[in-house]
Formats: sequence, structure tokens, C-alpha cells
Amino acid sequence: MSDRNSEMHYTPPTSDTIQTKPFPIRGERANFVNKPHVIAMVGLPARGKTYISKKLCRYLNWIGINTKVFNLGEYRRHATTAYKCHEFFRPDNIKAMAIRTQCAVDALNDVCQWLESGDGEVAVFDATNSTIERREMIHNIVVKKMGFKLFFVESVCDDPEIVEQNIMEVKVSSPDYANMNKEEVLADFMLRIEHYQEKYQALDESKEKDLSFMKIYNTGEKVLVYKHEGHIQSRIVYYLMNIHIVPRTIYLTRHGESSMNLDGRIGGDSDLSDRGRSYAKALAEYIEEQDIQGLRVWTSWLQRTIQTAAGVNAPQERWKALNEIDAGICEEMTYEEISSKYPTDFAARDQNKFSYRYPRGESYEDLVARLEPVIMELERQGNVLVVTHQAVLRCLLAYFLDKSADELPYLQVPLHVIMKLTPVAYGCKVERIRLPIDAVDTHRPKPKVENNDNTIVNNSY
Ligand code: SIN
Repeated sequence: MSDRNSEMHYTPPTSDTIQTKPFPIRGERANFVNKPHVIAMVGLPARGKTYISKKLCRYLNWIGINTKVFNLGEYRRHATTAYKCHEFFRPDNIKAMAIRTQCAVDALNDVCQWLESGDGEVAVFDATNSTIERREMIHNIVVKKMGFKLFFVESVCDDPEIVEQNIMEVKVSSPDYANMNKEEVLADFMLRIEHYQEKYQALDESKEKDLSFMKIYNTGEKVLVYKHEGHIQSRIVYYLMNIHIVPRTIYLTRHGESSMNLDGRIGGDSDLSDRGRSYAKALAEYIEEQDIQGLRVWTSWLQRTIQTAAGVNAPQERWKALNEIDAGICEEMTYEEISSKYPTDFAARDQNKFSYRYPRGESYEDLVARLEPVIMELERQGNVLVVTHQAVLRCLLAYFLDKSADELPYLQVPLHVIMKLTPVAYGCKVERIRLPIDAVDTHRPKPKVENNDNTIVNNSY
């Protein structure tokens, strides 16, 4: 039978014939780890260990791997108020050393318990772990006793400017220094580093042959990888090789209002409406006023994003990966049409919007997987304006703002608003700039779901 004939005999699926995934499907995500992993940081104070830990945790959670950071400084602060000044960290301070060792053991016990409970997949142990003896203790507990995988990540930095910048950005607001001015903090912290330096032993493949590790020099200038094992460690190495700390701004926006937005239809590849074209003009003017150095513009392959970015005076790239979620058999339909034609599916989507896959289309979960190369490239870049679509922006925002899979499909991404993301300390600041051109509201809030016992659960966030 020719393709043409088979098209002629094709019967569109009905609500009873279409196949969707069962719900909920947590644990079926494309990314998972076979064996629990501990990622143990190594490095002198103020080498960006907490930055790396938090960022890695956010990335792994976003790709569907349940990850948590265990910060040793927090355990120490919880265990004792003895920290008055740098003297606490002197290697000959026997009393303080006993407290510090006990805190490390307690934190590791919590790490192991969390991973053993079955919930956790990757635990990041954020501490200096700066001696061979300490790393041996970690190896004994994590690998020999628990049978988990262990990967050390050392941050080496000999650039005094980066160290000082780190202290001024994050250490001055540490609870350790509640009543001190910036100069006092800097002086005390430099002495704290000196105490660690006295006993510091960098990871060394000749002395620690059995360990798996990577070393990152001066925030990514050079990277060394030793005996990394398996898929998850490769992913971690690849991710950490791509991140940088050079200040920059990412601008995110949806396309201008399209003619299908006006009709309340999802998907498709329609042109901009009149108001959409006005937004495109206003966006180009706004970007021009900002005078952004080295700006690059990314759009999807769809007309409405290309038309929106057309007037922006900067090099442009088209990414198929930035195309809107594929609504499969529901493409170009209104929500009312979907609910009357495919009622079972429509209800199923409301039960678990993140995992729900449109028949012959995509789910938000699929979209996150499709967008991973985009995130990786965004991490590598400087200033970028991304012009894309509602569902795509929800996924990108969830990455930058550390939102869970449950929150992700309901994030507010209105038309004609620019979201300006700037990296700050351990996260990202977001400013929303609304350009003064009206547009339809395409947000569909999470509906109330009726339980089996007929009670109404209000699921709004
Ligand atoms: C701290 O107590 O602040 C950090 C302890 C460490 O990781 O050495």
C-alpha cells in the first residue's frame, strides 16, 4: 500500500484508542542512577565548593535525578556555637578538631541514611575534605560499608582575586560573621584558609589510586579527570566542564502574540498578530537601549519566534530544540475542543501534567530532555536573548530558578514580558519587564481535582 493510500485509510484516534502513559510515573524518568552516588567536594575554603555543589544539585534534579547537598559548615554551626574566630580551625585546636570530626561523621551518616531510604540518588557532601585521612574515612563508609559509588570533585584555585571575590560575595553574609564588617571578615577568613593550608593534601593519583575524582583548576581553566566510572559521573564531569562564573545576563521571552493565540489554539506555526508585531518592535527597541555586549539571539524554528526576533540587532541562531512542546494529535486545537474530543486524556493531563505525553506528541518530561543541550550551551555562553515558547520557557525557568517537576508546568510565563536573569551568589535573580502592549492570557491554572471520596483538592500553588 502506498503512503498516500495508507493516509486515506487512517482513522483518527479517539479517547478510547489513544495510548498514554500511566500516572504517576515518577521513577520512570529517562535519567536514573543504578547505585546511589556520593559526590564529595575537596578544596580549601573560598574555592567555590558550595557554588559547585548547589549548581550541580540543581542540574541533576532538573534532569530527574533526586539530589541533595549536605553542607558540613551547617552541621558544625548546628553542633556548636564555639566559632568565635579563625582560631577554631587551627590544626592544633584539639577540642575543636574533635567537634569537627564528629560533625563530619554525623553528616556522612545522614548522607548514607538518605541514600539508603531509597528516595535519594545522589548526595553531594559539601566540605573541605582536605586530607588523605578524611577522604579515606569517607571511602570506608561510603564504598566499603555501604556499597555506594563515590566521586571526589576538587576545586583548586591559586588566583588571589577569585578567592577574595568569593569571600566578599558569600562569606561576608555567612552566619559565622553576623556582627563583623567586611574588612574584619576578609582578615579572619584569610587566616582560616591559612590554617587549612597547613594540612592540605590535594587529590593525588599516585597516593590515592583507588579513588575516582576530577580536579577543576581556576574555575575551569584546566580540568583533570581520574578513573571516573559510569554514566552519572560522565554527566557530572561534562556539566562541570561547561559552567563558568563570568558575569552575564540571559534574557528570556516568549514570541509576540500569534494569530493562534488569539483563537485560543495550541501549537501550530502561525504568524504574529498585530499586537505581536508591535511587541517585536518594542523588544528590538528595548534590547537596543540596553546596549548589551556580545549579545546573541536564539529562536526556535517556528515563524512566531523568528518574526519576534527579526528586528533585534545581533547575530541570530535557530534551534529546533527550542520549538514548542509537540501537542501531537491535539496540535492547533483549543482546550475546549481537546476536552470534548479526548476527555480521558484531558483529565489525565490535569492529574500529572509534567509526565503526561500528548498522544503522538511530547510531555514536559520529554521537553526537559530535549532542552538539555540548550542548557549546556547557555552555560557556556555570555549574554543571550532566547525567544521561544510557553512550555519551553517553563522548563528553562525551572532549571534557573530551581523549581520542582510539580511546579514546572504551572510557572507563569505571560506574553509580552521579558525575563532578565542575572547570576547572584548561589542562584539567579529574575526581573520581569512587561512591555506595554496588551496580549491574550494563555495561562491555564492547575484545576481543582476531585478525589475518589468526592472531596475537592485545591491544587493551586
Ligand atoms: C566548616 O565548619 O565551616 C567547614 C568544615 C570543613 O568542611 O572543613
